[in-house]
Amino acid sequence: MATGRAASQRLEELQQMREESAVGGGQNRIDQQHDKGKLTARERIALLMDRGSFQEIDSFVTHRATDFGMDEKHYYGDAVVTGYGRVNGRLTFTFAHDFTILGGSVSEVVGEKVSKLMDLAAKNGAPIIGLNDSGGARIQEGVASLAAYGEIMYRNVILSGVIPQISVIMGPAAGGAVYSPALTDFIFAVNGTGQMYVTGPDVIKAAIGEEITHEELGGATTHATRSGVVHFAIDSEEECITQLRRLLSFLPQNNGEDAPYYPTEDPASRADIELRDIIPEDSSRPYNMRTIIERIVDMGDFMEVHRMYAQNVIVGFARMDGKTVGIVAQQPESMAGVLDIDSSTKAARFIRFCDAFNVPIVTLIDVPGFLPGSEQEYGGLIRHGAKLLYAYAEATVPKVSVLIRKAYGGAYIVMSSKHLRGDVNLAWPSAEIAVMGPDGAVNIIYRNAINEAEDKEETKQQLVKEYREKFGNPYIAASRGFIDDVIDPSETRPKIIAALDMLKNKRDALPPKKHGSIPL
Ligand code: HXC
Repeated sequence: MATGRAASQRLEELQQMREESAVGGGQNRIDQQHDKGKLTARERIALLMDRGSFQEIDSFVTHRATDFGMDEKHYYGDAVVTGYGRVNGRLTFTFAHDFTILGGSVSEVVGEKVSKLMDLAAKNGAPIIGLNDSGGARIQEGVASLAAYGEIMYRNVILSGVIPQISVIMGPAAGGAVYSPALTDFIFAVNGTGQMYVTGPDVIKAAIGEEITHEELGGATTHATRSGVVHFAIDSEEECITQLRRLLSFLPQNNGEDAPYYPTEDPASRADIELRDIIPEDSSRPYNMRTIIERIVDMGDFMEVHRMYAQNVIVGFARMDGKTVGIVAQQPESMAGVLDIDSSTKAARFIRFCDAFNVPIVTLIDVPGFLPGSEQEYGGLIRHGAKLLYAYAEATVPKVSVLIRKAYGGAYIVMSSKHLRGDVNLAWPSAEIAVMGPDGAVNIIYRNAINEAEDKEETKQQLVKEYREKFGNPYIAASRGFIDDVIDPSETRPKIIAALDMLKNKRDALPPKKHGSIPL
């Protein structure tokens, strides 16, 4: 009887502690959080995880600091909620900063909790999602909190390419604290509340006199359009988490697995006659590459990554015959699809993610070359363009490409060409492969003839026409085996799927080395 009562008391005590832990910094702080248009850590986790699947760990951890009045501010779990559960039925680890407790700041024990979770995720080969909303390193703990961040960042690096790591910025991420999300594979951020910057507006004003708002400096849209730090800028937390769950559905659990297979009702053999008329007669006119992508992938379902940044290249995930592919494509509607600094680094990063996680790469090419101009040259176009070349050459996953229209100069080589070990290189009859565009080429090789001609313009146009006739087709490349087949555009989907199917057991390896020296 006495034992029974003691047991029930113990359970009551446990229940009380759980209830206390569940309200974080208390109802007032929760209300303040809601007033700012933000959800709490637990509300966010509930949206992320399949219903009832979340298992919290370390909810009894409390901080160890005593200085600055900290001995009076103890909260169960401290300023982060950590645990695991299921997303779309698959094991997923998550941590969510609890802003209601000391502004979600990262103490020594917050760092320990997150590091422990990352180790668990790595050992069990599952993605880790960080829901960020934090004032950064816990000021009262000094170097102990910096050390905690360092431990997290070390794991971000070591686990890169091992398990998918995804960050969601739902509140402030300031100072050095931005670098943990920056090391992860994808960053989502919420417009209006998610803000990232290394130095905030106040410091900027004091240091260089510039006045700028938090949102202008580090808001989701700023980073999704200008800096490229953010891959997905989304208007609400709910939609952000919906899109995050969608992204996870395309990804494998770890680098030792393939992405999940989603059976599709879209036939692998589906031809699309309308693709035959998508390219304008005049090869200098644009068209929307996104239309081609949506017409060839399963059910038109394409999840574009970095949609608002460097729009001259499109990257994203889709499925073909039920299996995830990474799509890389020029967008002729934006700067004629030219390769520049930003589009090169955007595509290179995406390709390296796909390669690390066994996702085949499908490339759709229409590239007039690299962007000319001193701004690009001074900005390091050579170095940044080289990253894209490096990424394609280094990738050992299946690489299938379709040359839709232009492939001029170095950009021909860069974009998944046979010479960088493209596995299957297809071309539409509209493909043009040359060292450079007709105008530039004729000006160089026929300079004297044009200068000496009576009617310079007419002579030039005639020479341009001849040049186009010679190089404005895929057959010279096909006769050398650089293009494996020239296809009817309507057959693009079945041809790519056949190639991917042939390559599904592809084995390829790089020579033994510690790692390459990518031109960063
Ligand atoms: C301890 C912190 C804190 C921090 C906020 N709080 N940040 N406590 N350490 N880093 C506390 C506040 O004191 C406050 O407690 C509560 O959290 C809520 O903060 P508010 O300021 O009231 O909230 P808000 O107005 O929304 O402003 C949020 C904020 C602001 C923009 C994040 O708090 C702020 O600027 N914090 C400092 C940010 C910062 O500079 N962090 C260091 C970055 S450098 P009370 O009890 O008073 O309500 C860094 C280095 C990492 O992190 C290095 C890694 C290598």
